[in-house]
Amino acid sequence: MSTGIQTFRRTHMCGNLRREHCGNAVVLMGWVDNRRDHGGCVFIDLRAREGIVQVVFDPSDDAAAHALAGDLRSEWVVGIRGVVRSRGGNINPRLATGDIEIAATGIEIYAKSETPPFQISDGIETSEEVRLKYRFLDLRRGTLQRNLILRHRFNQLARKTLSDRGFLELETPFLIKSTPEGARDYVVPSRVHQGQFFALPQSPQLFKQLFMMAGYDRYFQLARCFRDEDLRAERQPEFTQVDLEMSFCNEQDVQDVTEEILARAWKELLNITVPTPFERITYDESMRRFGVDAPDLRYGLELIDVSDLVKTSGFKVFADAANKPGFAVKAINITGVGELSRKDLDDYTDFVKIYGAKGMAWVRIKEDGEWQSPIAKFLTDAERIAMTERLALAPGDVAVFIADTQSVCHASLGNLRKHVAKTRGLVDDNVYRFCWVTDFPLLEWNGEQQRFFAAHHPFTSPAASDLHKLESDPGAVKARAYDVALNGIEIGGGSIRIHDLDVQRRVFGAIGIGDVEAQAKFGFLLDALRYGAPPHGGLALGIDRILMLICKTPSIRDVIAFPKTQKQTDLMLDAPSPIDIAQMLELGLRIK
Ligand code: AMO
Ligand code: AMP
Repeated sequence: MSTGIQTFRRTHMCGNLRREHCGNAVVLMGWVDNRRDHGGCVFIDLRAREGIVQVVFDPSDDAAAHALAGDLRSEWVVGIRGVVRSRGGNINPRLATGDIEIAATGIEIYAKSETPPFQISDGIETSEEVRLKYRFLDLRRGTLQRNLILRHRFNQLARKTLSDRGFLELETPFLIKSTPEGARDYVVPSRVHQGQFFALPQSPQLFKQLFMMAGYDRYFQLARCFRDEDLRAERQPEFTQVDLEMSFCNEQDVQDVTEEILARAWKELLNITVPTPFERITYDESMRRFGVDAPDLRYGLELIDVSDLVKTSGFKVFADAANKPGFAVKAINITGVGELSRKDLDDYTDFVKIYGAKGMAWVRIKEDGEWQSPIAKFLTDAERIAMTERLALAPGDVAVFIADTQSVCHASLGNLRKHVAKTRGLVDDNVYRFCWVTDFPLLEWNGEQQRFFAAHHPFTSPAASDLHKLESDPGAVKARAYDVALNGIEIGGGSIRIHDLDVQRRVFGAIGIGDVEAQAKFGFLLDALRYGAPPHGGLALGIDRILMLICKTPSIRDVIAFPKTQKQTDLMLDAPSPIDIAQMLELGLRIK
């Protein structure tokens, strides 16, 4: 049997046929999903991008087609000529085309297929390694096709929203200069200038600011960003942003347009009306109540500070933390999650240690209101009563306590809160709680390097009212920065930028970048600030993370066509890989 030449012309996408097409003569193209022989007929499911349809080869319709169909195997590529007819009583409710089938009168075979390393269907138990190695097969699966179609639709509606609002889609370069602030850069050796390197952009940040200084007023780009950082569930070394910037704006202007994109996406892609404006919460409040800067607002389990209740306690661990600056005793009343066993509490104790906690105390309130707790004996009646009241503890409730630095209390209890909610069924996947987190600190102290770093990036404007503290109390300066979070995930972030040369110099100074270094690294920006820079600001949305939430998948790899593994490799390309000696010599490189 020869294969190859296409003479048929497709009339319909096979997944789009419905009852109203009955009686139509059609020509369809696609992949054989599977073949079944019965009652003298051959049945195949024909699969293409829009879905699957059943095709019946009956020898009395066309004997030649029926004979060819008997040889078909999964993943062969075929063209089918036939007539749409009703399935009568044999409806398949699992298929969108389940009301109809195709009575085949002709077939062309374009390509055969070897038996694939895994079955092309959803819910298969194939290791992710195999799926990524054969990504071109994995991408045939319905789920991935639906995810990528949603991604296309999100991108189109973001483009349309921004273009309609007067934003220009402008491109920025990939080969730029290495300025290691934030994550590590990916570098690219220069052949023409041996020993010198380009870097791939971590974001188009400075270019979009330069567009504003050049008078383009509003810019956007679906921008690819590259960051050499340790990967987590919602991170990839290359990822895509809806990157935008606008001139003569304030925080509200940037937030309005962002909300418009997101609300439109949820309406058009999920048919969910998202209330706008989004809730707003300051960074300080988010840390205090949720322990993290991207709060999940779908459930309670808030962090409660009990430091003031244990300042004079006989339990030294608590009293010490309650009295030391920068330390605290914080608790969560874990209520409404069903019975917690001793093993659950031991597991939680192990869990918080990941975040630096040295221990975790707990209490279970017995039916008679008594405290069952390893620390009960160290506390006075008055202390127990005060804590019971502060934490609103009722019989059956369990509370956990961490005494440590504020940041360890927040990280450990903030993550425990998420962990408990996820594992004890408090998380409703159909609820979407967007919020803006505002008033971030401008700078973060790095104890190891004994210096401040920019919390967002060093081009973020300090709050005007804090400007005078930039040298005297840098840690207390707030930034005009805002993040947008959804269900505990940071999906975007931005800020109003510095447009004043003197302020930019002072912020560089605060993070230990002196005038000489600033000129060497960011001379072009400082120069541009000398020639009339407008007030401006913007934001970037993480497209991959947004699609994870829209597609309800826990893996960022499920919304990226050709993703990297957690180990920063591409299993299909087998990359990264060594390069030829000749190529190395040409670049003037030698491996150490
Ligand atoms: P930021 O670094 O906060 O800001 O990035 C903006 C958004 O991009 C997404 N994101 C990522 N997604 C997947 N993998 C990653 N490794 C990754 N890193 C970030 C997140 C994040 O909220 N130039 C500034 C924006 C601005 O100030 O306008 C920037 O890049 O969803
Ligand atoms: P110990 O006296 O070390 O056995 O601790 C008594 C109780 O206090 C145990 O339940 C510990 O888990 C708990 N504990 C120890 N360190 C801390 C801490 N930093 N924060 C909260 N509880 C702690």
